[in-house]
Amino acid sequence: MVSSGLCFSLTVLLLLMLVTSELTVDYYKRTCPHAESILRQVMVQKIREAPTTAGATLRLFFHDCFVDGCDASVLVSSTPGNKAERDEEINHSLAGDAFDAVHRAKAAVEKICPGVVSCADVLAIITRDLVQLVGGPFWEVRKGRKDGRLSMASRVGRNLPTSTASINELTRLFASKGLNEIDLIALSGAHTIGFAHCTEFTNRIYNFNGTRAGDPSMNPGFLGELRRACPPRNGNPDVVASMDAATPFQFDNSYYRSMQRGLGLLTSDQELLTNARTRSVVDAFASSQDLFYEVFAASMDKLGNVGVKNETNGVVRKECHRT
Ligand code: HEM
Repeated sequence: MVSSGLCFSLTVLLLLMLVTSELTVDYYKRTCPHAESILRQVMVQKIREAPTTAGATLRLFFHDCFVDGCDASVLVSSTPGNKAERDEEINHSLAGDAFDAVHRAKAAVEKICPGVVSCADVLAIITRDLVQLVGGPFWEVRKGRKDGRLSMASRVGRNLPTSTASINELTRLFASKGLNEIDLIALSGAHTIGFAHCTEFTNRIYNFNGTRAGDPSMNPGFLGELRRACPPRNGNPDVVASMDAATPFQFDNSYYRSMQRGLGLLTSDQELLTNARTRSVVDAFASSQDLFYEVFAASMDKLGNVGVKNETNGVVRKECHRT
């Protein structure tokens, strides 16, 4: 009994090692050695044309990884018989520039190594490049993800967090993806770049928790500014506010410093200050950009490993929008 139990544990351990060692930094060393430098050049050009691409792509990557793993399923277009992930309501606000960035990047690598580099790896690599191009940290991207064969809107459901989520809901959701509270706080730092539409925070500024008043934890001047930009009714649905009021195009730690001053835009951001434990991590990131960068890079590596597919359950798509 003891030895069969030991055998079982060893098999599980070996399987775990196999699963975690699937992705490698030099995965394309022989099959497409110039993939990363080509992708980087394409991103340098793309971000020059559209600086909002960095935030848009970082969010796209997150939404891909949390729904059935980092398998590029969010890129697939709907067909007459199938409503794909990207057509689920929460994904309607994924910006077109992110899809265009992946499309251009994939086309460039297909030219040099056809059928080799998966869309999932392209998305992981260009996300890293774009973050770095707007001032963020560098990390080595482990590669070898395969693309999913399915993309179903019905799978999005509770796999993505909403802007009104509480700290407990956020912690639970991230834990279900193998990410801890520190990952949650570091990855929320992605909101140091990019924008949110008024609908994501109108309740917070006009009717917080049904009180018919703004969230008292918000800085009053900031609340007033947001109310002017986002009227309670009949506002322009295209109006957006920066997630980090201070430096929306710069990847830095000012998101955390803003939150300490009541300038967090979403309820889910401000929730990170709810308890002493999470607040102490916010404070640490607010006072050290180096620490934030280090933890963010490590958490992005973990995020990029959520539910990855291999040769047995995935493929390399030729075109990212078609399975
Ligand atoms: C913790 C839970 C999170 C919630 C509730 C959340 C929610 C949101 C919402 C509501 C928006 C605004 C969308 C819009 O109106 O266009 C947004 C934007 C954004 N999110 Fe998150 N998010 C979360 C975590 C993350 C993570 C983990 C990442 C990446 C690692 C991320 C990256 C971004 C980026 C970069 C934007 C700006 C997008 C753009 O400018 O196009 N978010 N998020």
